[in-house]
Amino acid sequence: MHKKRVFSGVQPTGNLHLGNYLGAIKNFVDLQNKFECVYCIVDLHAITNRQDPNELKSNILETIASFIASGLDPKKNIIFNQASVAAHSELAWIFNCVARIGWMNRMTQFKEKAGANKENASVGLLVYPNLMAADILVYKATHVPVGEDQKQHLELTRDIAKKFNNDFKCDDFFPIVKPLIPKEISRVMSLRDGKKKMSKSEDSDQSRINLKDDKDLIDQKIKKAKTDNDSIPSEINGLKNRHEAANLISIYASLNEIPVDKVLNEFGGKNFSTFKSKLSESVVEKISPIGKEIEKLLKDKKYLSSILQNGSKRADIIATNNLKEVYEIIGLTKFS
Ligand code: TYM
Repeated sequence: MHKKRVFSGVQPTGNLHLGNYLGAIKNFVDLQNKFECVYCIVDLHAITNRQDPNELKSNILETIASFIASGLDPKKNIIFNQASVAAHSELAWIFNCVARIGWMNRMTQFKEKAGANKENASVGLLVYPNLMAADILVYKATHVPVGEDQKQHLELTRDIAKKFNNDFKCDDFFPIVKPLIPKEISRVMSLRDGKKKMSKSEDSDQSRINLKDDKDLIDQKIKKAKTDNDSIPSEINGLKNRHEAANLISIYASLNEIPVDKVLNEFGGKNFSTFKSKLSESVVEKISPIGKEIEKLLKDKKYLSSILQNGSKRADIIATNNLKEVYEIIGLTKFS
């Protein structure tokens, strides 16, 4: 039996959006009162694609500001950046030797991100899921709050843990992690195309609500969000094959913490313009204060760095200890 511990990570690639918030960060905040939580800014993951060094530095601070502005308490949780704790990279190498190439080749996110030019993608992008498994398992974390797009990576994490436990006959050494994926909205979709995930890498800024968008911009983006010509259905079945409609309804449900069928009860039969103004109100109410707080926190870079410093020290103690056990299990000795 493992002690319950939550771990999750967010890439510091700038422009955190409503998908990151509803899919992950909102859940981080809820969990902080129930579990011991470790939240990481995964800067080593970010460099699997080329990053401008100065932008990366400022994006790391912006991500930590977004965590705090969303309600994470740096005293309650361990909040840190991945590059500060070397044990992540060390365990990732070990997992490179545990995971099979066939497993990597099945990862849909690699295929999506590498696109047509697979031969030219970094090797880091291919073995990225092994680093992700190391992030989680170096803390022996048991629960991982993420959006649905990370589910396959967590299945891989489970496979790596099982293979390691089995290969080295150390039953139950690594826990078999449980994904915590939000029910009402596991995947927030683009406002321009309900079949595409809302994403920081999408060219059109109109496709997403950024945490830093102000009221006017939020109103404008929601007004322009794609819908269809039918009115809002009264039953969930009526949302079938209506991807854009389903997305907006789910966003509303998730922001207001009510089930989708309750939203349909309230708005069934009404047209989208009525609903959109209510949705805008909800988004502005929940997101605008976060955006304002991010701007405020970014003025105090010393404070933000001190959170990372403190969190990194706390994380390093746990991770280094667990890594030491791993080295012993596999017969490696550090003589230095
Ligand atoms: P990243 O940085 O792409 O996204 C951070 C979190 O936001 C969620 N998310 C979404 N959820 C719902 N709808 C969306 N449109 C949407 N877009 C993003 C993601 O699911 C994620 O939870 N590989 C991870 C980072 C990572 C990690 C880890 C996560 C590295 N190590 C260990 C958990 C545990 C990633 O790239 O997330």
